[in-house]
Amino acid sequence: MTQDVRLYELHGDDWSLILEQDGNSIPIWRHFGVRVDTTGVPTARSCRGTSTFSMDDDQRFDILPTGGSGWFGPPTISINNPNGAPIDVQFSTSNIVSSEDQLGVELIDEVSDVRVIILYISRAGAGLEICTSVKNLSDIPFNVARIASAIIPLPAQMSEIISWSGRHNSEFFENRESMPTQGWYRETRHGITGHGGPCGCYVLTNDAGWHQGQVIAMQLVWSGNARLAIEPTDEGDWVAVAEHLIDPSELTVHPASTYSAPPLLLATSSSGRNGVMEKMHSLTRHRIEWPGKKMRARPVHLNSWEACYFAHDEDRTLQLAESAAKLGVERFVLDDGWFQGRDNDKSGLGDWSPDTQKYPEGLSKIAYRANELGMEFGLWIEPEMVNPDSKLYREHPAWVLAAADRDRPTARNQLALDLRLEEVCDHLFRAIDNLLSETSISYLKWDHNRHHSSSGGAAQVRGSYELFKRVRSAHPNVEIESCAGGGGRIDAGIINYTHRFWASDNLDAVSRFAMQRGFLAFMPPEVMGAHVGAIPSHATGRSQSLGFRAAIACQGHLGVELDPASLTTQERSELSQWINFYKDWRHIIHGGSTILGEASDGVLWQAQGLDDELLLWVIRKDHSRFRHAQPITLPFATDRNWEISLLRHAGQTGLSLPNAGSAIKEMSSKPLKLSGSWLAGSGLPVPSLAAENALIYHLKAVS
Ligand code: GLA
Repeated sequence: MTQDVRLYELHGDDWSLILEQDGNSIPIWRHFGVRVDTTGVPTARSCRGTSTFSMDDDQRFDILPTGGSGWFGPPTISINNPNGAPIDVQFSTSNIVSSEDQLGVELIDEVSDVRVIILYISRAGAGLEICTSVKNLSDIPFNVARIASAIIPLPAQMSEIISWSGRHNSEFFENRESMPTQGWYRETRHGITGHGGPCGCYVLTNDAGWHQGQVIAMQLVWSGNARLAIEPTDEGDWVAVAEHLIDPSELTVHPASTYSAPPLLLATSSSGRNGVMEKMHSLTRHRIEWPGKKMRARPVHLNSWEACYFAHDEDRTLQLAESAAKLGVERFVLDDGWFQGRDNDKSGLGDWSPDTQKYPEGLSKIAYRANELGMEFGLWIEPEMVNPDSKLYREHPAWVLAAADRDRPTARNQLALDLRLEEVCDHLFRAIDNLLSETSISYLKWDHNRHHSSSGGAAQVRGSYELFKRVRSAHPNVEIESCAGGGGRIDAGIINYTHRFWASDNLDAVSRFAMQRGFLAFMPPEVMGAHVGAIPSHATGRSQSLGFRAAIACQGHLGVELDPASLTTQERSELSQWINFYKDWRHIIHGGSTILGEASDGVLWQAQGLDDELLLWVIRKDHSRFRHAQPITLPFATDRNWEISLLRHAGQTGLSLPNAGSAIKEMSSKPLKLSGSWLAGSGLPVPSLAAENALIYHLKAVS
C-alpha cells in the first residue's frame, strides 16, 4: 500500500469485508467473502493494467457508483428537483469512521449537496447489516426516485442463484437458475412482501450444496415493493443491487433532512447453504423484540379458523377453548368472524368491536375462560383493510388506497386503507388499543389479505410499520403474528414488530415440508407458525396421517388448526402426545441451529438444535424404489461421539416399525452410540420407510 491508500477491514467469524480508500476518494470494494489476512496486499490500482475503450481514469467498483462517473452497471441513486429535473449526483470525496464492528462511510457530492451515509455493521460476527441513508445539505427540497440499500460485488466463481416465488397456499417455491449472462431481476409490486418470501436470494459457487461451498445470502429489511438485480460486469464478475421501490414523486427530502433506505442483511459462508442460513437466522433473530427482552418457550396454539371459519359464537368458541385446553394447548386464538357484521368475508372489516349477537358479553368472557383454562387468549385482526360494506367505509370512503375518480377494484371483497394518512393511523391505533385495553388479549394474529392494486408506495409500508410500532410500545407484552393470506408478509422488516409468521394457509404436511425449508432460508424455526390441520387438507384435498402432520408441524412453532371434537378419542390422545412431545423438545428445536440435508432415494433430513444436542427428522415423501434404506450421512456430526435414540415414528403405519432390523428397533428403548466419523462418513442406519413417513431421532454428544 502507498501512504495515501488505506484498507478498511471488518471481520466476522469466517468472513471479511475489505474496502480500499485512496486519499479521500470514494472507497472501492476489495473483498467480500471468506476471512482474509490483508498483509502485503498491493493497491487495487497497481493490480490493474489498462484496457481499450475504457475510461481514462480507471473506473473501479466503488461502494455507491453513479452514472456520470463512468459506471455502466445497475443504477444506484436517482434524485430529482421538485420540478422533476434530474439532479446529477457524483460523489467525489468521502470520510470513513471505523471501529471493530462497524464501518461508516460518508459520501460527499459538493456540487449537488447530496450526502450519502453507508454503515456496514457486523452483527455478532455472523453477517452484515448495510444501512444507507441520503441527506439533503442543499437549501431546496429534492425527490428521491431510487436509492440502493446496497450494491455488492459477487465473485466470478459464483454460478447459481436460488430464489423463491409463491402464491397463496403455495409459498416459498424454490427456483434455481444459473448466473445471468445479461441480467437477473426479482421485482415485486404487490404492495406487500409477497408469498415468495422476502426480497432476497442465495448465490452459490458450483461446488456448493447444503454443507459445503461458498454461498452468499441477502435479504432486504422491507415489507413492500422491492427489486433485487444481479448483473454481469464486463470484468467477469457480478454485481448485486437491492432496493425498495419508491413511487414517482412520493419521497421528498427537505433541507437538512435524511431519508434512510431499508437495510440489507448480507451473509456469506464457505459451509454451504446451511452455513449461510445459520447466519441469516442470527441476523433476523437480532431484529426480534421479545416481550421481556427474551424469547420464552413458544406456547402451543389452537387457532379457530379451520375449525369453524366464520361459524362461531360464544358457545361454540367456549366449547373449542375447552377442548383445546384438554389437548394441552397453551394459547387459544380466535380467528376471523368475531366482530360486527362479519358472518362471511363480504362485510365488517374495519368495524373492530365484537358482534354483540354472537358475543353478548364481548370477548372478555372468552378471554377469561381461556385464562381460567390455563391458556393465553389471542385475537385475529386485519387493521389495514376495510370492506366497502362496513360502517368505517360508509363514514370514511376517502380513507382507502384508490386513485381519484377511478374504480376501486376489491380483492376478497376488501380495500386497503391508506396508511399514509395520519387520521387513518390514529383511528386504527385507537381501535386496537381499545381492544387490547378492554380484554385480556396477549396475542394478535395481524392479517393483511390483499395486494395493493392502487399503490401506496413506500410510505404505505412505513405507515404500517408505525402502526405496529405504536401498538407494540403501548402494549409491549402483546406478541404479534404476521399473516397475509398465509405467508404474504414474511421478512426482516416486519419481524421488528412481530414474533411469529403464519407461514401458509396450506396445512398439507407434504406441501408444508417443502415450504418450511424455503421459510428457513430466511427465518429461524421458532417464528415459523406450523399447525396440525384436519384431513383432507382444506388447501390440497390430500390426507396424511396425524403423526406425519404433527411431526412436520413440530419443526416450527406448533399449533392445532382443527376442531378436536371432530377427532376420535384415540386421535385426540395421539395429538395430545404430540403436543407433549413438542413441549418436551421445544427448548432444543428453537433458538439453535437448523441443518438441512438430502439423503439418497428422495429421503430428506433436517436437524434442529444446539451444538451437542439435536433432534433429527428423517422424512420420506414418496414411495421408495429400493428394498432397503441407505444409511444417512450426517456431515455435522464429525468430531464427537453421539448417542442416538429413536424418539418417534410418524406415518400411516403407526408407531411401530414392524420390518426394521433389531438394532434399529432397539434405538427406541436404548440409545445407539456411534462415532461422529461413522455418522459423517458411513451414516446413520435407518429403516425403510413408507411414503409420507417420518422418524425423529434425538442426538446427544457424549465423550
Ligand atoms: C387469511 C389467513 C387465514 C385466516 C383468514 C381469516 O386467509 O391466512 O389464516 O386468518 O385470513 O379470514
